[in-house]
Amino acid sequence: MEVIIRPDADAAAELVARIVAKELRANPHLVLGLATGRTMESVYRLLVRLHRKEGLDFSLCSSFNLDEYVGLAPDDPYSYRHYMNEHLFQHVNIEPRNTHLPDGQAANLDAECRNYEAAIAKFGGIDLQLLGIGRAGHIGFNEPLSAFKSRTRVKSLAPLTLEQNAGLFGGVDKVPRRAITMGVGTILESRRCLLLAAGAEKAEIVAKAVEGPITSMISASALQLHARCTVVVDESAAGRLEGSEYYRRIFETEPEWEEFRKMD
Ligand code: F6R
Repeated sequence: MEVIIRPDADAAAELVARIVAKELRANPHLVLGLATGRTMESVYRLLVRLHRKEGLDFSLCSSFNLDEYVGLAPDDPYSYRHYMNEHLFQHVNIEPRNTHLPDGQAANLDAECRNYEAAIAKFGGIDLQLLGIGRAGHIGFNEPLSAFKSRTRVKSLAPLTLEQNAGLFGGVDKVPRRAITMGVGTILESRRCLLLAAGAEKAEIVAKAVEGPITSMISASALQLHARCTVVVDESAAGRLEGSEYYRRIFETEPEWEEFRKMD
């Protein structure tokens, strides 16, 4: 795992968007794993800008989202399909048929989860998985105690997650209780993981996930087992990290990051 600290949320999101753009240019057939949530909104805004201004081409790539609420129709304004259409898909040249989210309205949810895993495998697996982190330490909707070998399945949302999403839904009682989510095992199989966190309210959980013990109580800590995981945080979200001086030096000196340092 490597940790990159950027001065603010905009710079952190820009780095993530630039990494996605670089990977997409290197491999136009990239299979992207996508996340939703407030943190990702600026990443998608920047990707849309790169598409418009620099011709970033999504025509051959495909995508699989991490999760979708059970019971919400794709055109429900609170569904993640709707979020993706609004924030990314309808503004870039990605083929709609190459975009995948679990169907939260499937009559047979278990079969839907199995089919989702099969579709990921059919596309050759996920090349680059974008991740946010919830205050309960989840990646996707892998709530505390999610098995590290878990695959796509239905999960009950943790109280902290319901609380975190209450604002969007206009009250905790309106937040769907369950979601289909890729499993921790599914996420760990992606070739590269890129986790973005910003803001002081994420500082404690980021420190636990990155520097704390690996535990299923904090699903994001499983990323310590991933061979290629980059955690991008802003100064506020980095506030509780003990090794921040070392992490800063990596971004400032490692050749891999040279082209991204020029953004500053
Ligand atoms: C959503 C998802 C979640 C979010 C996380 C952070 O698809 O996978 O794990 O990434 O809850 O959400 P925000 O960015 O709203 O704080």
